[in-house]
Amino acid sequence: MALPVAADDPRRTRFSRALRREATDTTPVWLMRQAGRYLPEYRATRARAGSFLALAKTPELACEVTLQPLLRFDLDAAILFSDILTIPDAMGLGLEFAQGEGPRFARPVRSAADIAHLGVPDPETELRYVMDAVRLIRHELDGRVPLIGFAGSPWTLACYMVEGTGSRDFARIKAMAWNDPASLHRLLDVLARAVAAYLAAQAAAGAQALMLFDTWGGLLAPPMFAEFSLRYLDAIAQHLRAHVVAAVLPLILFAKGVNGAGQLEALADTGCAALGVDWSISLGEARRRVGARVALQGNLDPAALHAQPEIIEREVAALLRAFGPHPGHVFNLGHGITPEVDPESVAVLVDAVHRLGRRAVAEGG
Ligand code: CP3
Repeated sequence: MALPVAADDPRRTRFSRALRREATDTTPVWLMRQAGRYLPEYRATRARAGSFLALAKTPELACEVTLQPLLRFDLDAAILFSDILTIPDAMGLGLEFAQGEGPRFARPVRSAADIAHLGVPDPETELRYVMDAVRLIRHELDGRVPLIGFAGSPWTLACYMVEGTGSRDFARIKAMAWNDPASLHRLLDVLARAVAAYLAAQAAAGAQALMLFDTWGGLLAPPMFAEFSLRYLDAIAQHLRAHVVAAVLPLILFAKGVNGAGQLEALADTGCAALGVDWSISLGEARRRVGARVALQGNLDPAALHAQPEIIEREVAALLRAFGPHPGHVFNLGHGITPEVDPESVAVLVDAVHRLGRRAVAEGG
């Protein structure tokens, strides 16, 4: 496999340096869901595995698909191939992915008694397949680019666990937030402990950055976001700072749809290294709000990958300009790549970021 690079290759460190807000030769780029269905080689490996879950649970295959986008594109980071729902699966909810549908739990969490039964899974036994994948990917990457480990936020995991499946509005958990907040807090508390242990174990297994996905944080109005999501993101960040390995890794918080009313500032106050930003706010405004305290990761509308190459380049240039000539930008989409995207468009995007990012960095002096 043609992955290893020379000891002084900037790709080894560009991403980590940008997360620490240090100068880089150009803007680093990786893409959420960079390993996924838009790649024919991913679809072939998944067919070989038999299902998405079999793929995610077999370390050799998870490693193979993690590396697939890196063999095609000049990306600056790899992200562990797995899913946020591994934790509730290990808690005994029975995760299933029916072909062409989203996730579904055989045993959703609906009552105080259901919540009382949940325990914190031991990462090195019940989630061993994830840690084995991290170790194998680190070995195969051989230092070419850093590996990102990840987990879902307690709130976002709870959304799926209570509803039992994906939903547009997750009305069941919102009803629980109003009618039985004490039970919901018990659920979020056990999830925060599970997520912290899981991320710490990924760090110990070799992950070089950690990312928390709060995909459904934006469903909550600001006071409820503070109570049911931010509080637990904060608890996890604190726990990781006390962990011997995880403490030195950059933590990226991505709370989709959460940009208003001081929320970006509050997320930066957790002490995280970077905020993932969706495309509902300009990077310039996000940066004005949080200042130089954290790096920013984002935030191209994923649908821009359906535009003509010249338009993709134009959007990349506009986004780099919006961030401005400072260190501390990791280029990404504002959410995951969708399955219909042409891989050629991803090549155009990655090349444009590196080419135009050089100029953006140079103009910054
Ligand atoms: O390349 C990467 O980004 C790493 C792998 C990754 C996956 N899921 C693989 C996956 C990551 C980081 C995730 C995170 C994840 N999973 C999130 C948070 C980020 C986000 O997208 O908002 C969420 C909410 C999930 C839960 C989940 N997993 C859903 C709702 C679905 C079905 C919808 C969909 O996109 O298909 C999945 C399945 C899933 N996870 C796939 C992949 C590649 C597609 C499954 C397939 O191959 O059939």
